[in-house]
Amino acid sequence: MDKLIINGGRPLKGEIEVSGAKNAALPVIAASILASGESTINKVPGLRDVKTMGRLLTNMGAEFSHKGSKAIINTDKINNCEAPYELVKEMRASVLVLGPLLARFGRAKISLPGGCAIGARPINLHLMGLEKMGAKIELEAGYVIATAKRLKGASIYFDTSTVTGTENIMMAAALAKGVTVLENAAREPEVIDLASALRAMGAKIKGDGESVIEVEGVDELKPFTHTVIPDRIEAGTFMTIAGITGGDVTIRGCMLDHLHAFLIKLKAAGIKFEEVSNGVRVIGPMRPKAVDIKTAPYPGFPTDMQAQFMALMSIAQGTSIITETIFENRFMHVAELMRMGADISFKGSTATVRGVKKLKGAHVMATDLRASASLVVAALRAEAETTLHRLYHLDRGYEKMEEKLKRLGANVRREKG
Ligand code: EPU
Repeated sequence: MDKLIINGGRPLKGEIEVSGAKNAALPVIAASILASGESTINKVPGLRDVKTMGRLLTNMGAEFSHKGSKAIINTDKINNCEAPYELVKEMRASVLVLGPLLARFGRAKISLPGGCAIGARPINLHLMGLEKMGAKIELEAGYVIATAKRLKGASIYFDTSTVTGTENIMMAAALAKGVTVLENAAREPEVIDLASALRAMGAKIKGDGESVIEVEGVDELKPFTHTVIPDRIEAGTFMTIAGITGGDVTIRGCMLDHLHAFLIKLKAAGIKFEEVSNGVRVIGPMRPKAVDIKTAPYPGFPTDMQAQFMALMSIAQGTSIITETIFENRFMHVAELMRMGADISFKGSTATVRGVKKLKGAHVMATDLRASASLVVAALRAEAETTLHRLYHLDRGYEKMEEKLKRLGANVRREKG
């Protein structure tokens, strides 16, 4: 298993470019299943999760190629409507093929994703929505087997705002007979990006980006060309890195509108930023100020930035209270940050971070994607050497992380193992 070795303590300076968003690319790739033919998707990041989605499609009989940042998918020959256990256990987002397979082929067999490092993460709301649309759902030997002659439009209310749940139902509804209304739908930019890809396929969707989405089903969708939005979480991670190292970093290609709540907190922490052409320049202080955060569905503070922000707060002046409201087990990074000298305690969903003057390098273990990112953020500030184990978590979601860090002057290297 690869490791990342970071010698921290130096301000990072320079310029990097943000990649396409993982969480936008995955549903847009899944959407290609809805039409027969060749679709082209630009700005698809080179990540392990994208590879897994590609394997899922080829396992179904589709052709998938990904060169540079362009993915070309041909779905003419799909003959197997299954997402097997081996692939779903690698990546929960595999469940995104459920809606498209069922809508186009009338059946789907998907391994039920189990719990994961950040929480139980059930898919009951995806299944509830499909059932309301007339699908028959059976559970058999760890698999969801969904069948429907043709899905029908329905009125669907989500008790909890769910990103991939909203995406799955939006894709299924695009080919259903009649109108589907999704209430308390997720408003994330990735949902809007998927809606615009679906519109390029001929889907009729209104209200994406708001909490009520209306989809008028059509009989057929066509292949499409789409460019994925920039990764707001990667941009936020690099802004945090600039902040924690007292650096001066310009991040090109990001959309600041997608980071509003995060930017309010970054500013309150004393980190300066200014919009520059096609990006943002971030200048970090010697030590940030303590700021409280509470995660919430978009447009609230993103849960996917909570761990990185906690790393920043670990060296702040003062005490910060961090509340996680989306996932019940998303504090796995706390114990690892403490190995580096952070002073953090937590009870239930609330962490108290008492800022310390210094962090010190240590051996630390990545437990999930964003926890890994928080350890990289902390290691770049820490004195001496940090070894980050189980690097594969980071490779799931950050394209060329160490190359980008090196470009900013970081002392970082990967050890193959
Ligand atoms: N939930 C249910 N039932 C469902 C679906 C969700 O109870 O059927 C609950 C979840 O357990 C959670 C809450 O609803 O407590 C929100 O979960 P959501 O469904 O929105 O999460 P997701 O769609 O599985 C996506 C991202 C995550 C990101 C979350 C929240 C993708 C592929 N994944 O997951 O990204 O944290 O939304 O914003 O879009 C990451 O990139 O590191 C990552 C984990």
